[in-house]
This record gives sequence, structure tokens and C-alpha cells, in this order.
Amino acid sequence: MPRAREAGAKLWDWPVRLIHWSFVALMPMLWWTAQHDNISLHKRLGLVMLGLVVARLMWGVVGSEPARFARFVKGPRGLMAYLRGREKAAAGHNPLGALSVLALLGLLLAEVVLGLVTQDVDGIESGPLNYLVSFDVAEVARHLHELVFNLLLGLIALHLCAILYYRLFKRDNLLTPMVFGRKALDEGMAAPAMAPAWRALACAVVAAALAWWLGAGAPH
Ligand code: HEM
Repeated sequence: MPRAREAGAKLWDWPVRLIHWSFVALMPMLWWTAQHDNISLHKRLGLVMLGLVVARLMWGVVGSEPARFARFVKGPRGLMAYLRGREKAAAGHNPLGALSVLALLGLLLAEVVLGLVTQDVDGIESGPLNYLVSFDVAEVARHLHELVFNLLLGLIALHLCAILYYRLFKRDNLLTPMVFGRKALDEGMAAPAMAPAWRALACAVVAAALAWWLGAGAPH
């Protein structure tokens, strides 16, 4: 077994890693299906993305310690204290990295919500909740759906640059823990508590049910 798998404490549990690498796989697929006008597959993949984003948001409340927003998201004061070196970050995302996590998840959420109400250029294909909005609102959603996608691409590029920066200049390998889940912690850092698998499964069921319900046009 490679050393990286054995070394260190558990940091990123399987739900965080499964969701993360699914994001990575889905982004090019969503782009490709939109480019090639395969809107029915695009809509199905979009609903999978919606389910994953919702599951990650729920996991940020009830999940393992490093995944919890309350643990890594700091207000301006906490952020400044960290930047001035007055406060050490706990294992996982530091307060600055937390901003990028929030931005990525926030934009992904905005993107899938816009997809629910949008329509394609000729107004023939539409998202499952398009019936709730007027033609003009759906047009605005269509433009925003494209804009937010481009913002996501920019943020992902920044995300990859930050990971490379940490690797090259801070000698901190962020990639291996996101693959294998474990990381050697700084001295004095407590090993984070992990949430039980049943809680992840409960989040998955709720997120999948919500995505299915919205995909069916939120029957009323
Ligand atoms: C090949 C492409 C990618 C690589 C190598 C990569 C790698 C990583 C790594 C190493 C982390 C952990 C950072 C840390 O320890 O602070 C991370 C976190 C994260 N990445 Fe990526 N990433 C990629 C693409 C993406 C994409 C496409 C998205 C979303 C569209 C994304 C969203 C996130 C989010 C939301 C987190 C926070 C993890 C969490 O707490 O759930 N990443 N990524």
C-alpha cells in the first residue's frame, strides 16, 4: 500500500471525496452536452449535479468535522487574525481557502438553480421549472446560466493555481488527501471527528429525492 494511504489522520471522508471527484467528472460532461445540443442528457446530468451540491451543503452541517462550514468558515475578524498569523487554522480548509470553497459551491448552486428555469436559444428545450417563470425571465436565466459557467471556469482555474502554489511554494500537498483521505497533521493539531456512514446515506437520500422531485417539475 502506498505510504500516502497509511500516513496521517483521516481528513477528507468518502462523502467529501466522492462529491468532489464527481464535480470534476461532471463539469466537462455538462459543458460537452451543452455544446453538442444533447439537452436531455445535459438536464439529467444537471440534476445529478444539483443532488451533489445539496448533499455537500447538508454534509457541511451534519458531516465530519473538516467538512463542516461552522468549523472552517470564519468572519472578517477570524480571517484577518489568520492572515496576520495570530490564529492557527484547524485541520482542513484554512479561513482563506474557505472563501474559495464557498464561492465554488455557491456558484455551482446558482448554476443548477438557473438551469431549472432556463430555456435554450429558440425556447424549445427548457428546464423542469421553466413553467414557473415568464419567457423574459427565462431569457435572463439563460444568459446568467452561461455567465455563471464562465465564472466557474475562472474559479476552477484559480482553484488549481492555488493547489499548485501550495505544492510548490508551501510544500503542502493538498491533492493526495483529496484522493486518499488522509493527511499528516501539524504538531498539536487534534485529529478531526468523522461522522457515521448512515448520516451520509440519509443526506444522499434527501438530496436525491429533492433532485428527482425538481426534475419532475416539482409536481403540485
Ligand atoms: C482536476 C481538477 C481538480 C483538482 C485536482 C482539485 C483538487 C482539489 C483539492 C486538492 C482540494 C482540497 C483543498 C484543500 O485541502 O484545501 C479541493 C477542494 C475542493 N474543490 Fe477541487 N479540484 C479540482 C476541480 C474542482 C472542480 C471542477 C470543482 C467544482 C466545480 C471543485 C470544487 C472543490 C470544492 C467545493 C472543494 C472543497 C472540498 C469540500 O470541502 O467539499 N474542484 N479540490
